[in-house]
Amino acid sequence: MSDQLFPVPEAIAAKAWVNEATYNAQYDRSLKDPEGFWREHGQRLDWIKPFTKVKDVSFKGDVHIRWFYDGTLNVAANCIDRHLEKRGNQTAIIWEGDDPNESRNITYKELHGEVGRMANLLKAQGVKKGDRVTIYLPMIPEAAYAMLACARIGAIHSVVFGGFSPDSLANRLQDCGSTCLITADEGLRGGKKVPLKKNADEALKASPSVKSVIVVKRTGSPIAMEAGRDVWYHEEAPKLSTDCPPEEMNAEDPLFILYTSGSTGKPKGVLHTTGGYLAYTSLTHQYVFDYQEGDVYWCTADVGWVTGHSYLLYGPLANGATTLMFEGVPNYPDNSRFWQVIDKHKVSIFYTAPTAIRALMREGEEPVKKTSRASLRILGSVGEPINPEAWLWYHRVVGNSKCPIVDTWWQTETGGILITPLPGAIAAKPGSATKPFFGVQPVLLDNDGKVLSGATEGSLCLADSWPGQMRTVYGDHQRFIETYFATFPGYYFSGDGCRRDEDGYYWITGRVDDVLNVSGHRMGTAEIESALVAHPKVAEAAVVGYPHDIKGQGIYAYVTLNAGETPTEELRKELVAWVRKEIGPIASPDLIQWAPGLPKTRSGKIMRRILRKIAANEHNALGDTSTLADPAVVGDLVDNRMNRG
Ligand code: PRX
Repeated sequence: MSDQLFPVPEAIAAKAWVNEATYNAQYDRSLKDPEGFWREHGQRLDWIKPFTKVKDVSFKGDVHIRWFYDGTLNVAANCIDRHLEKRGNQTAIIWEGDDPNESRNITYKELHGEVGRMANLLKAQGVKKGDRVTIYLPMIPEAAYAMLACARIGAIHSVVFGGFSPDSLANRLQDCGSTCLITADEGLRGGKKVPLKKNADEALKASPSVKSVIVVKRTGSPIAMEAGRDVWYHEEAPKLSTDCPPEEMNAEDPLFILYTSGSTGKPKGVLHTTGGYLAYTSLTHQYVFDYQEGDVYWCTADVGWVTGHSYLLYGPLANGATTLMFEGVPNYPDNSRFWQVIDKHKVSIFYTAPTAIRALMREGEEPVKKTSRASLRILGSVGEPINPEAWLWYHRVVGNSKCPIVDTWWQTETGGILITPLPGAIAAKPGSATKPFFGVQPVLLDNDGKVLSGATEGSLCLADSWPGQMRTVYGDHQRFIETYFATFPGYYFSGDGCRRDEDGYYWITGRVDDVLNVSGHRMGTAEIESALVAHPKVAEAAVVGYPHDIKGQGIYAYVTLNAGETPTEELRKELVAWVRKEIGPIASPDLIQWAPGLPKTRSGKIMRRILRKIAANEHNALGDTSTLADPAVVGDLVDNRMNRG
């Protein structure tokens, strides 16, 4: 932890939307008079029927969360149509291809036409308001068109990251009963092709609800098309009108479902609605990144994750911003790519993940220094705790010591940023997400549910709602209540641990449940375990995280084989490939240790605490092992632990 304080640069504070004095005043007001505060900020959207009711929330009993709930609006119209008069010819999306020679600017006017066409195509395919549409696309403009087209006609989108396997895609298609899938022939990342349509075909075998598949041509490689089900986007769209009237939606109608991993069971469909979500993402995008007219804003997240929803697409477009969408990866064609893109498009606000910073930091300063980055003003970090060393490098080398860094803490469930510095208002401490955003009330609780005050450490909860909060788990409200509101009754429980220092700054310490954060991607240990035990040679598996220099956390799997099976190097590789196939490459175990037995309590519960310590090479601090059914297994695991390198 670093206790260095980086004051707000004066030049930033002078022009910022929020400075130190206004932060304190507005924060106080947002807690004292949440209705008044949000009534005012709800006005930043264009309402078809203006709301009169602001907030109706209970974190107790059945849990209900409603914001602006008698108002109606359309999200796509708020992100596009209302900007046309003033910004029709302004670039809405800068698309930068995987190949550095490929890029394209899409104006608000063009975006309007493209989204209208895609919306009309969805309608032609029989998609209606309330239907679920799954989007399995690479980072191409059509991904943005597809999301906005759904919003335009009131269909609920579920974006599935292109790196997920056919099985993972099938599970997500089935869970929400999608009737339509939008995919591409192939994706292109770092010069490598990703067989999206082939994966989709595999998934579709198990997904009978899907009646129609729209295929975008990206690479042109030959793929199978099923007559009567699959249509080519480039053949059908030009036949249709670019004009599609936006559907009038209630503020609490669903906008999207996004699947995310938890500590148990299969991924949950996090449901977000229209009005509160858009008001919150748009306000936070403006204040947290201090977005100003003329800025070029780049969030490197994939649209398959919540960051890509809230801060690549919806927040920026609601603000009439120019947002950059990048198809590629940070190290292709070389390690200078991010910084070259910044120079090429004069990016002023840059938002990325600590894992990317750590990977690039390893390559030294030279790839950064050979670019100018003179356009940069604000830097952002998201997805996992940023270690002070990476923060300091990001600040000094990338930002030339002049750009404030906003370390933004939030989650798929929160819809938008909750704890973060505001660049003109809050001095930064490397590694700390600093202070709550307006209307956000973080509380730290001990294991008995007691609220802790002052400088302390505990489980991070929120005492009240904010408009961007998820409303339910799609199709399973009970699971929503149990996951987020049962541990600490009356509070939303984030699943994160957190420390608050004497200055009231928050320091996220990581998950306190069985969720891993690998390269900023959330993985449930239970999901990886069930993939492993599905292999015919595996009897049992336990998965834990361990500290990893680049990824933040690596995946460490303890595997017990069926009697008679021989542990070999071959089998180890086979299991890694198996998990990749079952879930996707992001879930590949980094290390697999053969475990003749797992440490269990007498009631059969696996003691993960011990497994985590062994994986972290902290075997001298295993704690009490006397309650184990067979304490001897621990010695074997310690003796044979894998070298983390
Ligand atoms: O553990 C926290 C970590 O990422 C989790 C949320 O993951 P996900 O829903 O995939 O959303 C990621 C993008 C918002 C959190 O529970 N996390 C996210 N941001 C930070 C963070 N941990 C520390 N610092 C952050 N800035």
